[in-house]
Amino acid sequence: MLTESVNLLICPHCGGDLRQNGASLICSGGHTANIARQGYVSLLGKHGGTHTADTSEMIAARERIIGEGLFEPVAGAIEVAVSDPRLEGVEGAVVDLGSGPGHYLERALEGAPNRIGIAVDNSKFAARRAARCHPRASAVVADVWDEIPLRSGSAAVVLNVFAPRNGEEILRVLAPGGHLVTVTPGPSHLKELIEPFSMISVDADKEDRLRETLGPLADGLEDSKVDWTLNLSRAEVADLIAMGPSAGRLEAGSLETALDQLEYPHPVTGSVTVSVAEKPHTSGPTPS
Ligand SMILES: C[S@@+](CC[C@H](N)C(=O)[O-])C[C@H]1O[C@@H](n2cnc3c(N)ncnc32)[C@H](O)[C@@H]1O
Repeated sequence: MLTESVNLLICPHCGGDLRQNGASLICSGGHTANIARQGYVSLLGKHGGTHTADTSEMIAARERIIGEGLFEPVAGAIEVAVSDPRLEGVEGAVVDLGSGPGHYLERALEGAPNRIGIAVDNSKFAARRAARCHPRASAVVADVWDEIPLRSGSAAVVLNVFAPRNGEEILRVLAPGGHLVTVTPGPSHLKELIEPFSMISVDADKEDRLRETLGPLADGLEDSKVDWTLNLSRAEVADLIAMGPSAGRLEAGSLETALDQLEYPHPVTGSVTVSVAEKPHTSGPTPS
């Protein structure tokens, strides 16, 4: 693992600083974590394993969809957000919470050539891919509902893209002046697929809930809408369903029947909100 990344990590059991010792990380309290041969480290804390993580099939489907450039407008908006001139002079990493396979972290690091990146996800299948998404990236298996195993103030940018959001912990890990960049689906996101594939639809009040979960970061939140059309092949429609929370809602036979009923390429709406929140410079000392 990159030494610069290890220097930002803390022990999930006692909060002590970690250092690398061969193929392990060790803290001053003697807790150790092995670095997997795929390059990621598991730092699960007290809730370790209690929340559902994406499966290998979901991650593989997500890799294909994003790898084909179908979410390029989202990746482009993230690259622009991390290169915001207001972040010049703010030290810290780009931390992607609920990173999945790390495509957005990869793009963010392209927009932030002097920063390292840390992908955090509770799926080891996501972490395996994210550990090699970029030469300046490292990956950690951790649960964002626990204390995130990162030092307070270690992130200049926190990315949170279609993933769970722990506002208190995001505030803690952000450096003063650092930015939280969230991507949330709008009510019409993938709307053409909701009914035919019994997909879970987006709550109309999702954006209000974003504000509620962000606490002090919600003040001065800057929103921009990103809308585009995805022209999907049959395999891409199947992958889009397989990569998200609606995977497995239809049995295999019903899924095939629903796929047979569409014409291809099938136009589908992409519609998200990209929000940027700045942690105030004057928020006082962050707890360690
Ligand atoms: C919808 S996917 C989004 C992945 C990625 N941000 C993207 O847009 O390609 C949500 C990700 O959050 C992860 N996740 C879900 N619950 C989590 C938790 N409690 N802690 C950490 N990661 C979690 C899943 O494993 C999955 O990779």
